[in-house]
Amino acid sequence: VGGGGDFRLTATTGANVWATGRFDGQRQGGQVLFGRMYEDTAIESSAFAAGGRVFCIASAGCTALALAPRHEVVAVDINPVQLAYAERRCAGEAGRLGVAERFMSLARHAAPMVGWSTVRLKHFVEMDDPPAQIAYWREHLDTRRFRAAADGLLSLTTLRTVYAAPFLNFLPPHLGAVMRSRMARCFALHPNRSNPYARALLLGELPALRAPPEARDIELITADAATFLESQPAASFDGFALSNILDGVDCAYKRRLSAAVKRTARSHAVVVLRSFREPDTDFPRNRAADDRAMLWGIVDVTLADSLTYPRNT
Ligand SMILES: C[S@@+](CC[C@H](N)C(=O)[O-])C[C@H]1O[C@@H](n2cnc3c(N)ncnc32)[C@H](O)[C@@H]1O
Repeated sequence: VGGGGDFRLTATTGANVWATGRFDGQRQGGQVLFGRMYEDTAIESSAFAAGGRVFCIASAGCTALALAPRHEVVAVDINPVQLAYAERRCAGEAGRLGVAERFMSLARHAAPMVGWSTVRLKHFVEMDDPPAQIAYWREHLDTRRFRAAADGLLSLTTLRTVYAAPFLNFLPPHLGAVMRSRMARCFALHPNRSNPYARALLLGELPALRAPPEARDIELITADAATFLESQPAASFDGFALSNILDGVDCAYKRRLSAAVKRTARSHAVVVLRSFREPDTDFPRNRAADDRAMLWGIVDVTLADSLTYPRNT
């Protein structure tokens, strides 16, 4: 697959920043940006009823691969290089590092300087009692030097050296403090030992996900999500895993995608939509704390019928 139809972006979609496959805003030389996904597929797996047809953003292919055994999966990505990588993973190739992982690996070099010895980190990721984890986190890992380093690394000044403006405009202020609190929230709730995202983030040990036999049936398409859905028959999907593709896009694109999702949704279809943004205080259905990837401010799981992307996205 990896092609088919003309699903290129129009200038009005506001989503084309991802199409170039670059974080730095260059228009040439598309890259694999994500070697793995940092979205807890347990959310999608529990949200979508078995046997349905689901639309998902391909990214590194992790969500598509996790859903394939129980769903008919259509995976779409606007970055052709990323889509080709997801396609290779679905065909059984091992994963590799993307630009995001290389950035995190560089940051991890500073670990010993903030008091994060390998011994401590290995002990921490093997813990399985959340109250003990959060006590260990506070005592040994959430050091003053770590807080200063995280705040510096995640400051706009540093991020601007790697990411073009459209990838930064939607980030919450004081991102370092926000991310530190999302990490602590996760360690206080989910056993580290069974959390692959904790190992990935802290040690750079990426899960070696094997493609299930059903992966050969995943339909992979290079396309903009809204443009692709607009080409699909009405009432043709039971679930939508939209990643955080509404972060940083304009209202016109949000409305377009929302209309395309509603039109192509079967009754009781469910949408999962993430965002880096901080939620409004009054957003009770937010599932961000349940997502063991720990990065998200908003994980909205809702019926497609009632999709009103959260005010903050
Ligand atoms: C939104 S990004 C974020 C990364 C993601 N949270 C993860 O952990 O993999 C994921 C993927 O969405 C793709 N993408 C972004 N906007 C898109 C759109 N409008 N249509 C299709 N794919 C899109 C990007 O190319 C990228 O591969």
